[in-house]
Amino acid sequence: MSGGVRHLYVHLPFCAARCGYCDFVTLVGREGEHEPYVEALLAELALERSSLDRELDTIFLGGGTPTYTAPRALERLLAALPPAREVTVEANPETVTPRLAALLRRAGVTRVSLGVQSFQPHLLHALERRADAAAVRTAFHALRDAGFDNISLDLIYGVPGQSASDLAHDLDDAIALAPEHLSCYELESKPGTRFAHAHGDELARQAEAMEGYFEQVVETLTHAGYRWYETANFCRGGVAAGGRDLRSRHNLAYWLGRDYLGLGIGAVSTVGGVRWRNAPKLAAYVAAARAGRVPPREVEPLDDDVRRRERLLLGLRLDEPLPLHGVESALDAGALARLERLGLAERRGSGLTLTRRGRFLGGGVTAELIA
Ligand SMILES: C[S@@+](CC[C@H](N)C(=O)[O-])C[C@H]1O[C@@H](n2cnc3c(N)ncnc32)[C@H](O)[C@@H]1O
Ligand code: SF4
Repeated sequence: MSGGVRHLYVHLPFCAARCGYCDFVTLVGREGEHEPYVEALLAELALERSSLDRELDTIFLGGGTPTYTAPRALERLLAALPPAREVTVEANPETVTPRLAALLRRAGVTRVSLGVQSFQPHLLHALERRADAAAVRTAFHALRDAGFDNISLDLIYGVPGQSASDLAHDLDDAIALAPEHLSCYELESKPGTRFAHAHGDELARQAEAMEGYFEQVVETLTHAGYRWYETANFCRGGVAAGGRDLRSRHNLAYWLGRDYLGLGIGAVSTVGGVRWRNAPKLAAYVAAARAGRVPPREVEPLDDDVRRRERLLLGLRLDEPLPLHGVESALDAGALARLERLGLAERRGSGLTLTRRGRFLGGGVTAELIA
């Protein structure tokens, strides 16, 4: 039986250390638990398999640090996953050796997303990162040498101690590597965390500079020939892309409101109008798998209004018009007319898109549009 879901997310939570700003579901070390965890992932996959299509479009291994997972366990997992057109693995630079790059390639991985964050020593220090700029370059070249022709770099801006000129250097250093794809995120820090406490005043100063940084990122990367296809995401286009569409197919599926299955602790799934989130506890996850049960999870049926609003919120992050069919009732017609007059949104055919100025204002414009 094939259930039609074509996008699979797999969460690998283990990391060598915890970076101060990180709010993902992660576990430090736990080497002895990597194999049992992968075993549990495969048990969850077997239980959910009927919801997956016979042919998958995308698989995304996210973390945590998937490439910190014990190589044997990682290899076993990759071998057991169904084939897919795009298979992405997130990697931390210090974990990428020629051997690991070859393992990923052999196992059918098509795309690697490298967590760079910055090339500047003082910013890497503030973020509590382990890899320096030299390690990033070594990792990047190891991936290229292994044959990867689709590499993405993650950068973060608004870091304590950062200036516009630091950001310019980070962008230049990233562009110099000529990656196919770049994700540039503004630093989010949860109030009340150790990180927020340690950098309080400086984070407030950075928050004031954020709008300017965002424009700097977009201006620099589009000038360098990257397509600004989603609020925080850029890919090579035109001749440099050699006719390939280098957008992240997996993340596009989220932004276009497609169904996806998520495996692992803390993983979220949205299938057939129902969303569930697995509990973030490793022991309970492994125990459920051993007993042949689905892991503990929170289940939330999504009503049509919520789905339409999500479609708008996510779809308007993209540079291509969002087809309005089916989402009109979530739109505030008065607000749309006003935003069109202000040159922030425009209707193109039967679709709706934000203008360049509207995209800079982003979430604020979309929030106004929603009825
Ligand atoms: C799931 S994370 C982890 C990937 C990988 N373990 C790493 O550290 O490079 C994926 C990306 O989210 C971004 N990220 C993580 N925490 C963030 C935060 N607090 N604010 C903004 N971006 C963040 C980083 O760019 C990171 O590379
Ligand atoms: S390595 Fe990545 S996932 Fe792990 S704590 Fe650091 S930012 Fe978070």
